[in-house]
Amino acid sequence: MVDALREELADLTASVRAFLEWHAMTGADGLPGDPSALHEALGASSSEGGPPAARRPDRGFAGLDAPAPAAPRGGGGAAFAPPAGAAFAPAAQRSAGGAAPAHPEQRAAFASPPHPEQRAAEAQPARAPVQPPRAPEPSPRPAVSAAAAPRAEPAARAIAAAQPDAPEERLARLSLIAEEVRTCQKCPLHEGRTHTVFSRGDPLSEIVFVGEGPGAEEDQQGEPFVGPAGQLLDKMIAAMGYHRDGVYICNIVKCRPPKNRKPEPAEMAACSPYLASQLALIKPKVIVALGATAVQGLIGTTEGITKLRGTWKLYKGSIPIMPTFHPAYLLRQPGAKREVWSDLKEVMRHLGKSAPDRG
Ligand code: URA
Repeated sequence: MVDALREELADLTASVRAFLEWHAMTGADGLPGDPSALHEALGASSSEGGPPAARRPDRGFAGLDAPAPAAPRGGGGAAFAPPAGAAFAPAAQRSAGGAAPAHPEQRAAFASPPHPEQRAAEAQPARAPVQPPRAPEPSPRPAVSAAAAPRAEPAARAIAAAQPDAPEERLARLSLIAEEVRTCQKCPLHEGRTHTVFSRGDPLSEIVFVGEGPGAEEDQQGEPFVGPAGQLLDKMIAAMGYHRDGVYICNIVKCRPPKNRKPEPAEMAACSPYLASQLALIKPKVIVALGATAVQGLIGTTEGITKLRGTWKLYKGSIPIMPTFHPAYLLRQPGAKREVWSDLKEVMRHLGKSAPDRG
């Protein structure tokens, strides 16, 4: 009883801390439920203006080095407990809500060249704030061009076509796809990988975050978004009221591109059936596309993320996509956090959740 209360209190404290950190970053300083904070979030200037942070962006704001926060309960359904033998992520990494363990590879990652997403986003000019709410616009484009798309592996094709409803069946099929990915050799990226990186989080979640591809730490640990960008992503997720394990997180490509370069179109096309199967089985209500490559992998557009972000797109004519900046970009450009928070609030509105600073 006392233990349960203590755990509850620890969760609550961590959640409030994550919320406050994110709000300090986004310019708002109200507590959850304080309507005045909305005004401040939209109107106040970011406390992190000024020149881009130097490399070692993890020092960009207080708290990034702290363990990933636990988030409020009930944000996105129960945290997923995979069936025995399931292969969504290495068991050692699946600690419920805990931070990714420190790893020597983290140091190497800091020395790596900037994530391609950072370069792409930085190349874009600044733009006006997000437009008011609007209906998702249909996108006529397929995820990859038919010519470029390779034939899907038989298992992935069958799995995507079947689209079962029963959660157990969906989980079991996701597990099969993860197994298939583990031995995939459909593109040259398999040659340099340590681990494939399939997903983390809850496959029954209403919300899926899609990134570009694994970096050094993700390749080492076999789990997406466990490096500095992942820790920031965890804060964004917590600020939305979800537990880091209560949402589903995956990438366009499942193997690390060498030197963190952007995946080639052929590599994205080779991996595309896996993502399509994942999304067909998860059936999320919303996809958050993190960065230009994620949007490109999902709907085929090559437009810059500065233009795309904050405007609804559609995946395969049915699932709304909210494009936003990649967290790796935010590590170098903390001033863009306000735009990202605006995009995430739009997602919460779409899901019928009140944003913490909207009361
Ligand atoms: N960046 C991504 O796009 N994906 C990851 O998994 C990690 C960093």
